[in-house]
Amino acid sequence: MDDRFNRIDWHKTFPVHALTWPFPNPFHIEVGIARTDLLDDRISGNKWYKLKYNLKAALEQNAKGVASFGGAFSNHLHALAAAGNRLALPTVGFIRGELVEPFNPTLTDCSTWGMQLHPLTRKAYRERHDSAFQDRLMASFPGFVLLPEGGSNQLAVAGIADMVGVIESCKAAFDYIVLPVGSGGTLAGILGYYLGREDAPIIIGVSALKGVAGVLEETVLRLVGTEENFIDDLSMDDLLPEWWIEHDFHCGGFAKVSSELQELKARFECQTCVPLDNVYNSKVILAVKHLLECGKIPDRARLLILHTGGLQGVRNWSRPLS
Ligand SMILES: Cc1ncc(COP(=O)(O)O)c(C=O)c1O
Repeated sequence: MDDRFNRIDWHKTFPVHALTWPFPNPFHIEVGIARTDLLDDRISGNKWYKLKYNLKAALEQNAKGVASFGGAFSNHLHALAAAGNRLALPTVGFIRGELVEPFNPTLTDCSTWGMQLHPLTRKAYRERHDSAFQDRLMASFPGFVLLPEGGSNQLAVAGIADMVGVIESCKAAFDYIVLPVGSGGTLAGILGYYLGREDAPIIIGVSALKGVAGVLEETVLRLVGTEENFIDDLSMDDLLPEWWIEHDFHCGGFAKVSSELQELKARFECQTCVPLDNVYNSKVILAVKHLLECGKIPDRARLLILHTGGLQGVRNWSRPLS
């Protein structure tokens, strides 16, 4: 094994703690939070676990580097660039749209950490899932491994299972886990971890995207549904814990921010001292606020919020929010 992998302390853990909920809580729900945002200031949150086995596999197969896709503010590319830099593994980022100079803080970091940035027109970017298109792109990067947008693949799902292992090792009791959903790998990893377990909590995803109801659930199931996950002739439905995705808290779409969200974020941060990003975790807090107030979570249940990081992205919001 290439010992570059161990240049990152992958065994690091993160705190799981109780949260004094700063909004109405008429049904006395106990709220806790798992702070994967505190793992690392560069390879933040769920990215730590989604990249872990992808980078291990790349090093094991002597890949020349790792390439992936993302927008100009991508947490995934930011974490990949940071990890590649620490592991001396070259990285390439295929960026949606033009590369506007001067670079924003995310792309400045990526470039400083040695990631080669290649803009793709929005039209070309739409082909990112097409294997012939990927082959054409990768012809310029022989020996590189290509990860999907958001890094969500089977190895990411396996890494996220390690994250749930850390949460379980904290012995915090919870009946629900709530987390943000983008490309679906994190939710799939959590569902995969609890597959077939009778003591599984109920898992609630909160979509950061608009207009993906049904499609996102299918994506998640596809990511969970590897053959080794099936036990005897039980179907996936028999094995999965109860789960669903909330689709009404995107505030107008991906990375859109409403004034309600801004106020909620400011109040939450001020009263809990837990920082939030605008794109994923603020929207989870908005969803949880609604769930607790409308009585969808039963009296005195214990609910754990998974903070997935993404705080690097906050620097990109110095412009007025619309
Ligand atoms: C901070 C943050 N939280 C949550 C997500 C969503 O995770 P996933 O893409 O695995 O659904 C992302 C995107 O990967 C993210 O950057």
